Amino acid sequence: MGDCILEKYYIVTYGCQMNIHESEKIAGILRRMGYESAKELSEADIIVFNTCCIRENAENHAFGNIGALKKLKKQKPDLLIVVGGCMTQEKGKTEILKKKFPFIDVMFGTLNLEDLETLIRRKKAQKKKVIEIREKEGEIVEFTDAYRTSYPNAWVNIVYGCNNFCSYCIVPYVRGRERSRNPENIIREVKELVAQGYKEITLLGQNVNSYGSDGKTECTFAQLLDAVASIDGEFRLRFMTSHPKDFNEDVVKVMKKHPKICRLVHLPVQSGSNTILSAMNRRYTREKYLEEIKMLRSYLPEAEVTTDIIVGFPGETEKDYLQTEALVKEVDFASAFTFVYSPREGTKAATMDGQISEDVQKDRIMRLVELVNAQTRKKSEKYVGKEIEILCEDYDEKKGLYMGRDEFGRMGYFPCEHNCIGEFVWVKITKANGISLFGEICR
Ligand code: SAH
Ligand code: SF4
Ligand code: F3S
Repeated sequence: MGDCILEKYYIVTYGCQMNIHESEKIAGILRRMGYESAKELSEADIIVFNTCCIRENAENHAFGNIGALKKLKKQKPDLLIVVGGCMTQEKGKTEILKKKFPFIDVMFGTLNLEDLETLIRRKKAQKKKVIEIREKEGEIVEFTDAYRTSYPNAWVNIVYGCNNFCSYCIVPYVRGRERSRNPENIIREVKELVAQGYKEITLLGQNVNSYGSDGKTECTFAQLLDAVASIDGEFRLRFMTSHPKDFNEDVVKVMKKHPKICRLVHLPVQSGSNTILSAMNRRYTREKYLEEIKMLRSYLPEAEVTTDIIVGFPGETEKDYLQTEALVKEVDFASAFTFVYSPREGTKAATMDGQISEDVQKDRIMRLVELVNAQTRKKSEKYVGKEIEILCEDYDEKKGLYMGRDEFGRMGYFPCEHNCIGEFVWVKITKANGISLFGEICR
């Protein structure tokens, strides 16, 4: 046991699933050190901000919340404030954070998460703040003690970093080059999770399809998926994110072979216009994207697709935007995450000509959201009267109902006499409300 048994931690997480899982690893480190989790920020002895810098508003959120701690730190001078994640890894941001918030005690980056314990200990032994950001990625460090908080769901990294340099995106700069984990380690981790009773495993990577292409393993993503899906036990398998430039038939064949793999692919299209896709350096065309959807549905007609879309990218004309709308209609996505383009310093797109005005961006995002919502609503309504299998994930206090998802990611709420979190239940849908479904257990 560590040396600070009664001290408590609180972690604030921003950003993607990758970051949420990384916070579970941070929690694992802190618990190993003897900290316990605090229910509220105000009762914590150490607060860790795991930041995101994908869009400006993600950064503003973090700036606001870190800034708000100034008062608490004054009242509690022994409180340790730690900042890590993608923002600290961003060029020049550490300096800004240091100047703006001199009360930060420790800063670490995405490439030295494993050093966190040492850095905290060093800070405790000295007055001076400890800032250590690693510039280059090292060998993968295997974490064995992530403290998972999403039961019955568990996230498993398969590849870290990104090599794609989409022209708008900061991720390759703050997460380093692609590093694939050894397949044996991944399979061992999933086996352990299944043995512990986890019911939904999601394999994580910025581009899962490029797993192995760094030469770290001979195993391809399709082979890895096949191996993981072959693990005995009752669980669902998902993977995220697929990149349309690399998504392929081999993967779809493995999906077809294993009913355990959810028939849902998150395949971010970003834009429906070839001009914009090329300026984004996405390295596929609208036609190739549509071909892939066709291929997927030829093997698995029931398959659903979700996506990410950016509007207002530099140079996007009304005609380009309308091509995105047309593509959304054609594919009929189960759902779509829609974003307004946010310039990120250091990326190619940030200095491109033709930056779009805020008014035009707002207009386009509003129209797109309306279209996407209408489609999602229509899909939800089709569920009424159907029986679907839901993995119960949580109890919604406000609604007084249990909630979970079907394999297509559709959220369903239902009453249950006993605590059924972690159970697969069949629910007959009686009502649809926006993206949420409501029903009764039927089998
Ligand atoms: N690796 C994944 C996504 C990572 S980021 C992929 O390639 O699809 C998640 C989403 O954020 C992206 O799909 C994109 O739609 C959006 N995004 C990334 N950078 C952005 C920026 N600068 N402005 C607005 N949206 C952005
Ligand atoms: Fe960013 Fe593109 Fe990498 Fe996704 S694939 S993380 S959008 S650079
Ligand atoms: Fe994720 Fe945000 Fe970093 S989306 S990879 S936490 S920049």
